[in-house]
Amino acid sequence: MVDDRKSPEKTLDGKNGGHVAAGRRFVEVQDIHKGFQDSGMPIEILKNVNLTLDQGETLAIVGASGIGKSTFLHILGTLDRPDQGKLLYQGEDVLTFDSSRLARFRNRFIGFMFQFHHLLPEFSALENAGMPAMINGYTRQQAKKAAEAILVRVGLQDRLRHRVSKLSGGEQQRVALARALVMRPKILLADEPTGNLDTQNSDQVHELLMELNQEFSMTMVVVTHNMQLAAFMSRSVTIVDGQIVGTC
Ligand SMILES: Nc1ncnc2c1ncn2[C@@H]1O[C@H](COP(=O)(O)OP(=O)(O)OP(=O)(O)O)[C@@H](O)[C@H]1O
Ligand SMILES: [Mg+2]
Repeated sequence: MVDDRKSPEKTLDGKNGGHVAAGRRFVEVQDIHKGFQDSGMPIEILKNVNLTLDQGETLAIVGASGIGKSTFLHILGTLDRPDQGKLLYQGEDVLTFDSSRLARFRNRFIGFMFQFHHLLPEFSALENAGMPAMINGYTRQQAKKAAEAILVRVGLQDRLRHRVSKLSGGEQQRVALARALVMRPKILLADEPTGNLDTQNSDQVHELLMELNQEFSMTMVVVTHNMQLAAFMSRSVTIVDGQIVGTC
């Protein structure tokens, strides 16, 4: 079973379990295709994309603007569906799940940092970071406790009750990271996590990502234009002409 039906307390504790059966890859993307309609004209963005990931692995995805990196990350995160192909997590094709099982799986298994962070500006750092826990049915108190722990871990102990609109860009990015991690996901998908940051803030986020990968034994896929961040990852692939190029 991929979707984690353990008690909320266990997941918030960070006791993720998540052992992969022998011979199975942690993630397998098989023959994914995705297109959109543009003014009634079909455009093919991803054509026959294949990729495998092992547990704990860190991967950078690079490629030109508009090539389909965010589209691919959204599909990997089950936020969007491909037109064709399979998406296996621990050997199970999650695209066959019904919508409530898929949502449960996603909420417990995947942490997502969006390209445009999608935080709620009028809510505090604590409320934003705790949101996934609330959605997962935790009490306000449990969500707050979990959010506080992860916000402290990303260095925001002095900004817990600040409204997000009053935080700096780097701080907002760290709130987005905390929100992605509050459920202690087994995989973090980050879309340009340092896209709008200066060098100093970028370096801080890079270091945090690498530390958290070690601490939480978390698989990590990062879309980035930042070659320094890509170099931190154990592997790099490029999207070219709708396909993944590099060691898949
Ligand atoms: N919902 C949609 N409807 C129509 N076209 C879309 C949609 N989503 C994405 N596209 C198109 O698909 C292409 C790939 O978009 P995507 O956001 O994946 O690019 P990207 O590689 O992440 O680019 P960037 O580096 O600029 O973030 C773009 O041409 C975009 O306009
Ligand atoms: Mg993008």
